Amino acid sequence: TKHLLGIKDITADDINLIFETADNFKEVINRPIKKVPSLRDITIANIFFENSTRTKLSFELAEKRLSADVVNFSSSNSSVKKGETLVDTVNNILSMKVDMVVMRHSSPGAPHFLSRNIKANIVNAGDGTHEHPTQALLDAFSIREKLGDVAGKKVAIIGDILHSRVALSNIFCLQKLGAEVMVCGPTTLLPKYIGSLGVKVEHDVNKALQWCDVANILRIQLERQQIKYFPSLREYALYFGVNKKMLDNLDKEIVIMHPGPINRGVELNSDVADSEHSIILNQVENGVAVRMAVLYLLAGVR
Ligand code: CP
Repeated sequence: TKHLLGIKDITADDINLIFETADNFKEVINRPIKKVPSLRDITIANIFFENSTRTKLSFELAEKRLSADVVNFSSSNSSVKKGETLVDTVNNILSMKVDMVVMRHSSPGAPHFLSRNIKANIVNAGDGTHEHPTQALLDAFSIREKLGDVAGKKVAIIGDILHSRVALSNIFCLQKLGAEVMVCGPTTLLPKYIGSLGVKVEHDVNKALQWCDVANILRIQLERQQIKYFPSLREYALYFGVNKKMLDNLDKEIVIMHPGPINRGVELNSDVADSEHSIILNQVENGVAVRMAVLYLLAGVR
């Protein structure tokens, strides 16, 4: 059974196949009739143990555009609250003839563990601080759409790298596609192993913006911080927050990305988030086509 657990496990050829498939689906979902019958015999369960707006709705729309049957599970109003385990929960859902599982979980490795214990295709929709593979795919797809190619581009990932599954999946994906990657943030929000990932490290956000073609700005993930990290949100906004004046001071145009949700006025000001530099809503739009491609390709090899 095939899964998409992380970008670490897939090749540049896999990624390019997903992009070519997503190109076709993007064209399909811009037609008046947005649906294709490709997955009409497939049932997919979206199993979310953590909050989500974009990923959950994007997967559900992708599944519906592919004509799959869809069931949605949120742990917060489920029998997980009565003590049911992850494997029991998923096996009970699978016994209702479900073929594929899209899962978000707060524990790194939860989908990998599940993949060894259940018989269904699993797509990781974010596992704690580990990976968020479909986010990285839609991010790279959006760079390719905006700049023509990912290879040779300079991408700065700015923010809370330590707690970010988006950062790790983006680093793997961008490097596999031949981009140069820099991470930028306070030392306290960079993982100790960052040196082993082959990325540039910068602590001055203005230098990072001047270096890059694309800045992917990340949220400070207070909900994942076990201890109180320096800096506070106010300090972060002061020293690392990106605003229009900073972009006006560059001697070039750069592309601004953000996976959402944005903390406006902390990591990103509205005068940038809502400007012509921003492709933030294009990222969200592309998420549906990219997730259609992932589900279609996984179902095809069943
Ligand atoms: N980008 C992202 O994963 O957003 P959600 O947490 O709203 O799904």
